[in-house]
Amino acid sequence: MFNKQHFTELLSSGYQTKGEFIYLGAAMHQGEVYPEAAVKIPLKTLNRHGLIAGATGTGKSKTLQILAENLSKKGVPVLLMDVKGDMSGLFKPSAGEAFILSRHDKLNFPFEATGSPVEILSLSEENGVRLRATVTEFGPVLLSRILELSPAQSGIMSVIFKYCDDKHLPLLDLKDLKKILQYSTEDGKEEFEKSYGRISAASTGAILRNIVTLEQQGAYLFFGERSFEVEDLLRKNSDGRGYINILRLTDIQDRPKLFSTFMLSLLAEIYNSFPEQGDSDKPRLVLFIDEAHLIFDQASDALLNQIESIVKLIRSKGVGLFFVTQNPADVPADVLGQLGLKVQHALRAFTAKDRKAIKLAAENYPVSDFYDTKDELTTLGIGEALVTALDEKGRPTPLAATMLRAPMSRMDILSEEELQDLIDNSTLKEKYNHNIDRESAYEILTQKIERADRERAKEKAEEERKKIEKTSSRRRTSSAGDSQKAVIKVLTSATFIRGVMGVLNKLLK
Ligand SMILES: Nc1ncnc2c1ncn2[C@@H]1O[C@H](COP(=O)(O)OP(=O)(O)OP(=O)(O)O)[C@@H](O)[C@H]1O
Ligand SMILES: [Mg+2]
Repeated sequence: MFNKQHFTELLSSGYQTKGEFIYLGAAMHQGEVYPEAAVKIPLKTLNRHGLIAGATGTGKSKTLQILAENLSKKGVPVLLMDVKGDMSGLFKPSAGEAFILSRHDKLNFPFEATGSPVEILSLSEENGVRLRATVTEFGPVLLSRILELSPAQSGIMSVIFKYCDDKHLPLLDLKDLKKILQYSTEDGKEEFEKSYGRISAASTGAILRNIVTLEQQGAYLFFGERSFEVEDLLRKNSDGRGYINILRLTDIQDRPKLFSTFMLSLLAEIYNSFPEQGDSDKPRLVLFIDEAHLIFDQASDALLNQIESIVKLIRSKGVGLFFVTQNPADVPADVLGQLGLKVQHALRAFTAKDRKAIKLAAENYPVSDFYDTKDELTTLGIGEALVTALDEKGRPTPLAATMLRAPMSRMDILSEEELQDLIDNSTLKEKYNHNIDRESAYEILTQKIERADRERAKEKAEEERKKIEKTSSRRRTSSAGDSQKAVIKVLTSATFIRGVMGVLNKLLK
């Protein structure tokens, strides 16, 4: 028999919190909402990562919106991977439609309409603040993982980075990297061999081919300058609200490799730049990754390991990661095991495979006296979810079928003009949106090779001139006009272009 008092007492005490919290909604039982059993998530546990899962159209993106805008309101900045381009509404207050007000009536929770400070970011040439990183910042280890290089090839990559470091050659974009790889087995072969050991042309060829594959997915767009400073994700507006940084990734759905590359580099950069954050009352930054299966699809084992370890480590920097995906099984078990907050929307049981997935999903939730998790999973309505979180002491809260509050901001997207207006008023745009084509490895090496070619040509010309002088003085008969003609002929001859070895080496020293 369902004991209402027992239910409300257990749930309200389970979600009791002394510090700041985010109100998500109220617990339900068999379709009835119990406003006194409020589902409140302690702010201080939001660096313990989370999952928002559920079938299409069940309310995942709205849950994300609710969490993002409430974090912002509490002064926590957010970075949101907007794969579908449906998040811009966060900027404008909700119109407070009748269905929203009636939802809040059931929750007995006042509805407030408000927009959040938003910054639009972009990885490509799409409108928004450009997010870029240089090859040097990426580093040889990460780059080798992403390019799926063998240990020997990774070794070459490290040598290349070391060389560029020694010679002060900036590696900014993929053009630079390709140039130096070619150089190491062609014009710079001898020099490399002397100081760094022989580099096989077959290996650099293989690396170059992998770079081309990455480029074909559009990676050239985000390697370069000016590189994004992750501290810029931590901005607050004058009211102390955290910025919601929306990274528009609408054109990345068919390029999972690029997505995982970018995510990993971003996480690594955040990890390296942010100081440790001890026990804190709120996270420093929260990241939401919508369509998260895209990062895990097609990721190599090495890349997955890297992601798993960074998910573990980044928590201590006060950074929370939220994965949003249809099926919880899209997230690797090792990552799933580290998630503190789980918001599971309805799943659909069309096939035997679906039923198996539901059974598996149900097993990931705490056992409840009040719910048959498996049944709940298929009967939850839109904007309702099974929730389990961590309380202030880090203990799992009781499972709560929750009617979620509605977003305070608009549920639809901004119009083109509204979006343009937002982007035009961005303060970061000025900093990041002009292309800097600084002299880097590509230009420096190209100039070096050209200079060496010119030197060689000059030396050769000098040699030829001496030879001609010698012959003409020996003959004494030949006319000055003839020897001049000969010099001109030699100077323009193709044999001058390449020749005397070692000049280049001298130049590079
Ligand atoms: N918390 C909520 N309050 C009010 N309405 C909601 C809520 N959650 C969802 N809805 C309604 O359900 C619709 C679909 O929600 P949403 O876009 O979040 O689904 P989704 O799970 O992200 O779908 P998809 O997998 O297609 O991205 C919304 O447009 C809205 O009308
Ligand atoms: Mg969605």
